[in-house]
Amino acid sequence: MRRVIIDCDPGQDDAVALLLALISQDELDLAGITCVAGNVPLRHTVRNALRVRELSGRRNVPVYAGCPGPILRPLATAEEVHGKTGLDGVDLPEPDHGAEERHAVEFIIESCRAAPDSGITLCPIGPMTNIAMALVMAPEIRRSIREIVFMGGVALDLGNITPSAEFNIFVDPHAAEIVAKSGIPLTMFGLDVTHKALATPARRAAIESIPTPVAQAVGQMLAYYDRTDVDRYGDVGTPLHDPCVIAYLLRPELFEGRRCSVTVDTSDGPSLGRTVVDWWGKTDAPANCLVVSEIDADGFFELLNRRFAQV
Ligand code: RIB
Ligand code: CA
Repeated sequence: MRRVIIDCDPGQDDAVALLLALISQDELDLAGITCVAGNVPLRHTVRNALRVRELSGRRNVPVYAGCPGPILRPLATAEEVHGKTGLDGVDLPEPDHGAEERHAVEFIIESCRAAPDSGITLCPIGPMTNIAMALVMAPEIRRSIREIVFMGGVALDLGNITPSAEFNIFVDPHAAEIVAKSGIPLTMFGLDVTHKALATPARRAAIESIPTPVAQAVGQMLAYYDRTDVDRYGDVGTPLHDPCVIAYLLRPELFEGRRCSVTVDTSDGPSLGRTVVDWWGKTDAPANCLVVSEIDADGFFELLNRRFAQV
């Protein structure tokens, strides 16, 4: 079983990803959940991760608070998408148990130091600040990181926060550059594939028909979250970005992609935060990343429905 740390900025789609992982601990060794500022400020992302953990009934997984903002850039948030709390649309009770004392970056470093070579997979589904800080503070941990599987970036499509950039990379492009240059095997779930994981009205109705607390809460989250993308892109549903990362860990056969060189543009200007993906192999830059481009969306939602029917 993969030993995994999920680094997140809940956010409704992060919450769905966390629920999928928390309920799938028979297939994933979930070492911990680390939180970062992103969709909303850190105090909200931590509170949301704790409330989602309570909802799952899996209190065995520790939650850590990480960096309150990007390495160099001012924090950009997305309350217009996720609401002021970051988890608007569902009314979850306050958590009975709080976050751990240790800083998330310390937890990531110590978990990696304690792991065997290639013994841990890091899954950032928000800005990569915590991951980058761990790599800068303790470069030797690279040996124990099997793979960094992340939601972020875009290869052939357009950005969702600027024409060039996807939100997670845009918020902390310097962190993303550190990760891209780390030499650690990367797997990228960018907008090219996550915009194909659309929670259409029929798929949302299927979740809402499942009579479990988790499925009902997810249905409420999706009903709230399903606003901006439909208005903006005219899509028939909102993209479930972050859960794609967890579904890949559980059912990699649901996805297809191509190994390419990925670099991050950190230049000030209209391309800031762009993931430059050499999809057509026009350079001799090392193919550092599996760029995922296709998803079996029906199989993805069947996985979600099966797992959310359990709790
Ligand atoms: O661009 C989508 C990403 O930004 C998702 O991870 C969402 O939660 C936000 O963090
Ligand atoms: Ca996120």
